[in-house]
Amino acid sequence: RIDRTVAWEALDSRGRPTVACRVELENGAHGRTVVPSGASTGRHEAHEARDGGTRYGGWGVRSAVAAVNDEYAPLIRGMRASDRAEIDAAVEEHDGEPNLSRLGANAALAVSLATTVAHGAAENRPLWSTLGDPAGGDAGARRATIPMPMINIFSGGAHAGRAVDIQDFLVVPLGAQSFAQALEQVSDVRAHCARLLDDRGGWSALVADEGGLSARLGSNEAALELLAEGIERAGFAPDAMSIAIDVAASQLVDGDDIVLAGQGDRLSVDEWLDVVVGWTERYPLVSIEDVVGEDDWRGSSAATRRMPATQMLGDDLFATNLDRVDRGVSESAANAVLVKVNQAGSVSRAGRVLARAQDAGFATVVSARSGDTEDTWLSDLAVGWGAGQIKVGSTMRSERTAKWNRLLEIEAIDGLPFAGASVLGGTA
Ligand code: PGA
Ligand code: ZN
Repeated sequence: RIDRTVAWEALDSRGRPTVACRVELENGAHGRTVVPSGASTGRHEAHEARDGGTRYGGWGVRSAVAAVNDEYAPLIRGMRASDRAEIDAAVEEHDGEPNLSRLGANAALAVSLATTVAHGAAENRPLWSTLGDPAGGDAGARRATIPMPMINIFSGGAHAGRAVDIQDFLVVPLGAQSFAQALEQVSDVRAHCARLLDDRGGWSALVADEGGLSARLGSNEAALELLAEGIERAGFAPDAMSIAIDVAASQLVDGDDIVLAGQGDRLSVDEWLDVVVGWTERYPLVSIEDVVGEDDWRGSSAATRRMPATQMLGDDLFATNLDRVDRGVSESAANAVLVKVNQAGSVSRAGRVLARAQDAGFATVVSARSGDTEDTWLSDLAVGWGAGQIKVGSTMRSERTAKWNRLLEIEAIDGLPFAGASVLGGTA
């Protein structure tokens, strides 16, 4: 049973304050977590409480910390850490707002995560094996696998001072036979891309928020070209090392148009989709995230219809929200769901979203945030819930490598199978 819950202000990988929390159980086990935070935050995400004012430029989280210490700690004291659904429900009910805006989703999530980790510690088993069914029922865990990683090589958008408009250029090592091999292969691609960037006058030593390369390349397609060339130089066939992008288009929407400021273009959604379809014909582009704005259901469905072979992944579109995923399924607005627990506000909510997506036949990608922390529970979540894919950033910066390293540990110690290439959405 839960004894003591204590929260405090800590720092995320961008150096901004975030909520840290420790849940101690009567049996002596404890769980500690430091919650992540995004930059290209979707409008439909659970609400993150920030203090405003002058401390830390307004990014302080003292109010969320106080909510944990003064309200949630007494609320959950004496409850069983294994009853995560009940704890999360009690916290959500206590906040009272659907998007947890009264006390903050960062406060609620800190409690949910620390409880989950404390329960895992008490079980004396790997965390991934203690998570149970993501839907919260008694269906038993989904088949645990080591997820296929989607790894950032080049960044733009809100993660890199808008060097190019598109936020994320990634690779998916579809030909890898193990997670360790996947990471090794992607590191090699990154090194080749870094060299190409230096040759073109970029600065490969400077890294973006998620550890990726970045430079003002003049156009989005120039970044795609750089990536394709890096893959080729590293000696990989396009079907063994493919490309993914996260457009994060909500950041580019102006009225009904998509504005590519970096190259001075203003396009209608249909013109924009023509451009993207062209890319899928010229590059080994297997996954496209948030191709249009977060409320453009029509555009999302059109994109999914026009690119059936491609994984069409909804991040801000779904915001890890059950109602939005239901709508996306019924309107075929995508074929894959990105799951970020802090968009949902609790582990239980995120699990329900993931299970709903899986049950609908959508692919699932568990994701870190651009402002992340040294925590590794995300890797266990991806494994234990059978998410299929994971997106954590690049192959450097410790908040990223902590997650990769946890997956390497699970592969080496627990000997689970690597998910392989079949987990992507789309018909390719
Ligand atoms: P964010 O970016 O954490 O800044 O929202 C990640 C993503 O858009 O996938
Ligand atoms: Zn995204």
